[in-house]
Amino acid sequence: MCTSPHPFARQIYARLLEKNLGDPGLFPASAEIEREAVQMLGLLLSHPGAVGHIVSGGTEANILAMWMARNLHNNRCNEVVAPQSVHLSFEKAADLLNLKLVKVKLDDNFRMDLEDAQRRISDKTCALVGVAGTTGLGVVDPIAELSELSLSHNVTLHVDAAFGGFVLPFLRELDFDVPDFDFRQPGVSSVTIDAHKMGLAPIPAGGILFRDAGMMKAVSKRVSYLAGGETEQTTLVGTRPGASSLAVWALLKHMGREGYRKTAKRCMQMTLKLASGIEQINGLRLVTRPTLNIVGIKSEEPSTELLAQTLRRRGWAVALFPSHIRIVVMPHVTASHIDVFLEDLNDAVKKLKSRKGI
Ligand SMILES: Cc1ncc(COP(=O)(O)O)c(C=O)c1O
Repeated sequence: MCTSPHPFARQIYARLLEKNLGDPGLFPASAEIEREAVQMLGLLLSHPGAVGHIVSGGTEANILAMWMARNLHNNRCNEVVAPQSVHLSFEKAADLLNLKLVKVKLDDNFRMDLEDAQRRISDKTCALVGVAGTTGLGVVDPIAELSELSLSHNVTLHVDAAFGGFVLPFLRELDFDVPDFDFRQPGVSSVTIDAHKMGLAPIPAGGILFRDAGMMKAVSKRVSYLAGGETEQTTLVGTRPGASSLAVWALLKHMGREGYRKTAKRCMQMTLKLASGIEQINGLRLVTRPTLNIVGIKSEEPSTELLAQTLRRRGWAVALFPSHIRIVVMPHVTASHIDVFLEDLNDAVKKLKSRKGI
């Protein structure tokens, strides 16, 4: 889900290696740039007043969101209700924070099943989680309905848009059919959005946004030993790279909405080309129509697993999920990559079938 960082962001990052956001008193300009970068991300997610941080990635962002949710409820509850498709980082968060992850089944479209979600919410629930761009299929959970559920049960709603955050707002502007997934929905308390995925930023650059400062305060710790003077930290790590925030800030200005819109459009064009090519290969099928630039492939014969192994041996970096192959069509993918891949995929399927005499 990462790509070759944008050359401009590489330059910025390489020139600012000494900046440490763990000590904002010593690097006040970096701290200001981080605030502005977060504000720009907030604007992208329909809430310019959002607060938060540029962090090490989606995992840290999701852990911070769960930490906030647990503390906000004063440890009165310890359950997190999340879809089965939720990223592994929530297992880590649950383990670290002594929370119980309650998994909700998926509906026929691989989205969180609302009836099952409703059944699993109880007075022990402190947070609901929805995903805007699942790791396996790029599917978007019904965030508007989850927002209503969160408000009526007085629990926080975190949206993991680690992947979708840098695609969905631009697809919306391009008139794709994009469901509401961000702070527009009043129940949404926090959102993860990773610049080092579709934002083209150098690794590490994740993002965590909270609706208001009171929420972020729930994880705040005072630090008194720093050279820049006493401060408050609201991140998991202490010392952290200012270069990441500066690269994200510069890239948001440099690319602008127009730049990211073009990238999202091209990725979707490549994705649809790939999807229709896959549908024409005998024996393969799509798990679901792509919402984002992620394609899931299923194969009966040869088995999905054998096909994935064969593709990897042929040099294709495909990911294997329990019942499908995942391909993420990142911005460095060209039309000729898709043509060559489809040819090779077709050839691999034919050879594996003929070996079995099918
Ligand atoms: C939906 C989602 N959330 C969180 C993460 C974790 O991100 P990171 O690897 O940057 O920690 C991923 C990674 O693939 C993801 O797909």
